[in-house]
Amino acid sequence: MYSDLREWIAHLESEGEFLSLKEEIKLEPDAGAISRALCDVRGPGIIAENIHGFKDARLAIGLGASWQRAAMALGLPKKATQKEQVKAWEQALERYPVKSKLVAKKDAPCKQNILRGEGVNLFNFPIPRAHLQDAGPYLTKTECITKDPDSGWINVGTYRMQVLDRNRTAILFLAYRHIAEHYIKARRNGKPLEMAVAIGTDPTVFLAAAVKIPRGWNEFDFGGALRNEPVELVKAETVDLPVPATAEIVLEGTITLKADLLEGPFAEFPGSYSGCFLTPVFEISAITHRDHPIYDMLLCGRPPVEGYYTTCIPGVSALQRELSHACPNVTQIAYLPPYYFNCVIQGKWTYRGEARNAILAALAAESNNNPKMAIAVDEDIDPWNAHEVMWAIATRCQANTDLVILPGSYNRMDPSAEVNGSMCKLGIDATKTIPSSPRHSVAGWVMPREGTEAWKERILRAMKGGKL
Ligand SMILES: Cc1cc2nc3c(=O)[nH]c(=O)nc-3n(C[C@H](O)[C@H](O)[C@H](O)COP(=O)(O)O)c2cc1C
Repeated sequence: MYSDLREWIAHLESEGEFLSLKEEIKLEPDAGAISRALCDVRGPGIIAENIHGFKDARLAIGLGASWQRAAMALGLPKKATQKEQVKAWEQALERYPVKSKLVAKKDAPCKQNILRGEGVNLFNFPIPRAHLQDAGPYLTKTECITKDPDSGWINVGTYRMQVLDRNRTAILFLAYRHIAEHYIKARRNGKPLEMAVAIGTDPTVFLAAAVKIPRGWNEFDFGGALRNEPVELVKAETVDLPVPATAEIVLEGTITLKADLLEGPFAEFPGSYSGCFLTPVFEISAITHRDHPIYDMLLCGRPPVEGYYTTCIPGVSALQRELSHACPNVTQIAYLPPYYFNCVIQGKWTYRGEARNAILAALAAESNNNPKMAIAVDEDIDPWNAHEVMWAIATRCQANTDLVILPGSYNRMDPSAEVNGSMCKLGIDATKTIPSSPRHSVAGWVMPREGTEAWKERILRAMKGGKL
């Protein structure tokens, strides 16, 4: 697998999934515009080599923003299906832990430059303000490392951080995140919480940080399980924490106990700006970075964006496990953008009402991050294909009998929720009813002829200049 961001980029390049941009760009608005464009056309990852006002640093854009690259991040061929990706994720869960290993400072590229005091300056790195109404530049692809003040458990999580000035950021973590446990304990002890933030690592460490894994697990040891090789760590300079030895950039400091402040707005995953949140402040005591560092950016906002490809597979795996008892005939689960708002459950349904039970279970599932919609489909529908799902809704569903409407739920991130966050969940039973009722007594469902898949491949090849 890949031991750092540079090996990951080299692999993407060898697979035709990466382009280097040599012409000069401006951090604003170009970084946001390029990211948006490549997400929209499902383009390759890009590295901007020449950014106006930055002598040394480079900007990586959209490295994980496609299904192909999501597959490769798990060590699979780029054509691997989502089902295969879920399997790879589950195998990594079984391999956990692959213990990380501590290396000496001299063997840690992240120590090539060590900046303290006045030398600490976030504005030396191309941290973009990706969307017009973001409150400022935001760090989005963060690996925030903290330690439980009582047990010593190390947690790594991805939390958005708004740059406030050269050595301070706001940090937003929701109350149920593991870092919040560490912070609350530190606060009770009257001590600031030490934190290090790694930016620009191989994709497995980021994946481990950005999605939910069991409480008490160490994300570095899970990153190791994902790549099947230990992650190399090194001691930070000014805080008592380990950091990835090959990270491009590492910020070190403390989450202070001084007054919290309002951060945001920020373009969030539903495609709307979040409001402002009262958040603590991270004060940076040191920055270490590699020579010619690469700042790895991730676009948030209107779907589909990189976070969708990052979070879907682990989400599906967790929901599958949760539903496996209640709904044994579920054959596949998918999410359509924006991530967990739209859950699609495919099943080999055997009795009337079974699909409806699966809808209710999915809408209630803990692992499911509180989805807004759950759509049940039959086995002949590819749940990852929005066109097929819409076809099923249009042809196998009647609004007066096949909808499940659950008012009185809560999701503050839903832009259409009421002011207090209350919202209504929706289930759509888009399955052929069992046993067939008169309205479903069609002569049959039209299916592709044998050989269609092979023809698709040939036509796609021909579109790229090959022979038909
Ligand atoms: C791109 C991206 C950005 C995220 N930003 C935040 C954030 O700003 N605040 C937050 O609480 N969770 C955020 N998350 C979700 C957490 O990173 C995720 O739930 C992770 O499991 C948290 O780790 P923890 O459970 O160990 O605290 C984000 C996830 C992704 C993929």
